[in-house]
Amino acid sequence: MSQRIPEPFRIKMVEPIKQTTREYRRQALAAAGNNPFLLKSEDVYIDLLTDSGTGAMSDRQWAGLMTGDEAYAGSRSFFRLEEAVRDIFHYRHVIPTHQGRGAEQILFPALLDRRHQVKNVTDPVFISNYHFDTTAAHVELTGSRAINTVGGAAKDTQTYHPFKGNFDLGLLQSTIAEYGADNVVAIIITVTCNSVGGQPVSMENIAAVSRIAADNDIPVVIDAARYCENAWFIKHREPGYNNRSIAEIVREMFSYGDIFTMSAKKDGMVNMGGLCCIKEREDIFQAVQVRCIPFEGFVTYGGLAGRDLEALAIGLYEGMDEQYLDYRIGQVAYLGDQLRAIGVPIQYPTGGHAVFVDAKRLLPHIPPEQFPAHALCNQLYIYGGIRGVEIGSLLLGRDPKTGIQKPSEFELLRLTIPRRVYTNDHMDYIVATFAEILKDIDSIKGLTFTFEPPILRHFIARLRYID
Ligand code: F0G
Repeated sequence: MSQRIPEPFRIKMVEPIKQTTREYRRQALAAAGNNPFLLKSEDVYIDLLTDSGTGAMSDRQWAGLMTGDEAYAGSRSFFRLEEAVRDIFHYRHVIPTHQGRGAEQILFPALLDRRHQVKNVTDPVFISNYHFDTTAAHVELTGSRAINTVGGAAKDTQTYHPFKGNFDLGLLQSTIAEYGADNVVAIIITVTCNSVGGQPVSMENIAAVSRIAADNDIPVVIDAARYCENAWFIKHREPGYNNRSIAEIVREMFSYGDIFTMSAKKDGMVNMGGLCCIKEREDIFQAVQVRCIPFEGFVTYGGLAGRDLEALAIGLYEGMDEQYLDYRIGQVAYLGDQLRAIGVPIQYPTGGHAVFVDAKRLLPHIPPEQFPAHALCNQLYIYGGIRGVEIGSLLLGRDPKTGIQKPSEFELLRLTIPRRVYTNDHMDYIVATFAEILKDIDSIKGLTFTFEPPILRHFIARLRYID
């Protein structure tokens, strides 16, 4: 059982949050079409929708905002950010973007163009351990397919594995052979692997993927949103790394990639921002810069204010602070362990940024097409004012050709913990709310649509309970 690790900060500014009654929340949720995405955030007591852009900046980052240089081109704050990236990751070329998907939209078409120039591409694919939703969407927007090759351990939520985010290397190789190496535009290593539970990828696996990519002349892109959390897991779980600093581990991880995209809203510790960085390839850098200008903005601001660049240059270091990471990952583990202790099945062990509750196991009476994890999500809101998010059939949607619900491997409720925002007492409150829910778990009902949007339906769908 993990310990409560005291917060390694003191609180300098507070933001009141509202506690409401169960009846109030029942009505608010009904008015929101039984979809927590449509709630007003003011009606939420503890918001665990995402860890993306929801963290608290430090006093040093706030001070940095005041020194941001708002020049349209060649901003001093850009050069500070460039220096930080070169120092931390040893990547030469730095392009800021408005967020992670901004980096994806300017990089992926450039990579596909480049592949066409040098290989015989007939049926382009990108291969990842697991593409995040927007990453898969941007792959598909280029006319390519997004293929996931995560190892089998990720699919068994109940059995411990230190690196559930690892690629299945055999599957990676057979997938490359199946499509032909020429058709593989890039291999994307997602650290940590968000979609299967914020689960880490080991250094050994990253290195092996990089070797396989090199053997087949395929570029390696690291999806770096949670680079610090992944490095922490390597330090604590992989033999040979315990005496290495997080900074050293990060540098080694990135030595195995050619390019990285980053949603800086996670381990970059800012509320908005992203990066597209290229280790050395001048041709790719230029192609991405050309795309950056019409989509994100001039190449030294990429959709961000100068002050945002400044805060990110500081945040990239703060995310790697070991005392902070011990507390951060410890807090998520503490929540997960407490939930397990009262009988809530979770993706085990917990990952870096969230606890993923296995609703398929907890609510076997609700079939996938009635969205068990979403039903649990709603119950959590009604009972405790806590907002989580469904990662399952509702998110996955229908096959665009047949219109049939795609079969989902998981029905998970993600409890995503914002960085430096909630205390361990908030974690205890979440556990106490689950204990209440467990008392009448069988009474939870499934849901069906009253409005189903044709794409990305989970965001604005409206639903009703099935009697
Ligand atoms: N890659 C990963 C692994 C992500 O988790 C996200 C975002 C992105 C890329 C896209 O970045 O949002 O800055 O454009 N994940 C958020 C989440 C939205 O809630 O997990 P973005």
